[in-house]
Amino acid sequence: MNLLDKRVLFFGGKGGVGKTTVAAAVALQFANQAKRTLLVSTDPAHSTSDILEVQLDSEPTAVEENLWAMEIDPETETQAYIDDVKERISESIAPRLVKEVERQIDVARMSPGAEESAVFERFAKILCDEDYQFDRYVFDTAPTGHTIRLLSLPELMTVWISGLISQRRKVNILGKMWRNVAGSAAAGSEHDDPVLEALEARKSRFERAREIITNKDESAFVFVLTPERLPILETERAVKTLQRYDVPIGAIVVNQVLPAEVQGEFLARRKEREKKYLEQIKESFQELTTFEIRQYDGDVVGRDVLLGLANETFNHPA
Ligand SMILES: Nc1ncnc2c1ncn2[C@@H]1O[C@H](COP(=O)(O)OP(=O)(O)OP(=O)(O)O)[C@@H](O)[C@H]1O
Ligand SMILES: [Mg+2]
Repeated sequence: MNLLDKRVLFFGGKGGVGKTTVAAAVALQFANQAKRTLLVSTDPAHSTSDILEVQLDSEPTAVEENLWAMEIDPETETQAYIDDVKERISESIAPRLVKEVERQIDVARMSPGAEESAVFERFAKILCDEDYQFDRYVFDTAPTGHTIRLLSLPELMTVWISGLISQRRKVNILGKMWRNVAGSAAAGSEHDDPVLEALEARKSRFERAREIITNKDESAFVFVLTPERLPILETERAVKTLQRYDVPIGAIVVNQVLPAEVQGEFLARRKEREKKYLEQIKESFQELTTFEIRQYDGDVVGRDVLLGLANETFNHPA
């Protein structure tokens, strides 16, 4: 199945390799082929706004016909998520424990993983939102290490939420018993419990998102890298990790490849070194489709340049 036939694409890779550029180019190409497309960026530097030359925020903004884009700020998202968790927990535990639990949540907010959970929560909402059904979802994600943890998180999150759900059920049962003993009428069923309902909804949303992300007919993770030592090493590790978590990998995009006709001794030496790395990439990722993008001599900004980049890249693998 062709990469561009997938409904959901994630772009990841080491910092600065061109994730935002490539994700925006692919999203524009989809829109140009009359597919209703949503481009979701988590780049805190707001690079998507810059390269599309449109001011974006955390809700989908129309960019052109068939293309909407949004920028999620991981920090804002984390704060909203933490506030929400605090509220739910304080409703499901004994009042005397609330202060201590809140303190622990504040500590957790600083720990690695908090931003990933928050961003993933948002991704899950976007993917499962019945209100806006897009033909294509393009996610421009943060550098690899974090993103991978994020994609492997749903299981952890589900376990955690299941714990909260069963706690909440216990509270409900106790409440019901008490009301029976006290003889109050119409104790109400579990289905009237908004906290429990929200937890159940969140759990099924995570499960659904995980289902979408691991379904290879539906989704693919695309690694962007440059033909250099460190991006290659990092991508090799990342590919292994994602494979372990059953996240399908759709392709490798080698960005910033020097044009064939470089002039001068300096560039010729760079080209020579690059050749070695391109061979290494071919060998390391033989089972994956590879696309190459040449290094541009000007800025890769604006609709026409990006569309040109997508057209010359994705119509034929390297
Ligand atoms: N093929 C290319 N030719 C020339 N310049 C490029 C190319 N691809 C990307 N660039 C430039 O390289 C810089 C980094 O690209 P981009 O912002 O897309 O990387 P990124 O992986 O999203 O970075 P970050 O990890 O910071 O989010 C940008 O200035 C972009 O215009
Ligand atoms: Mg970026």
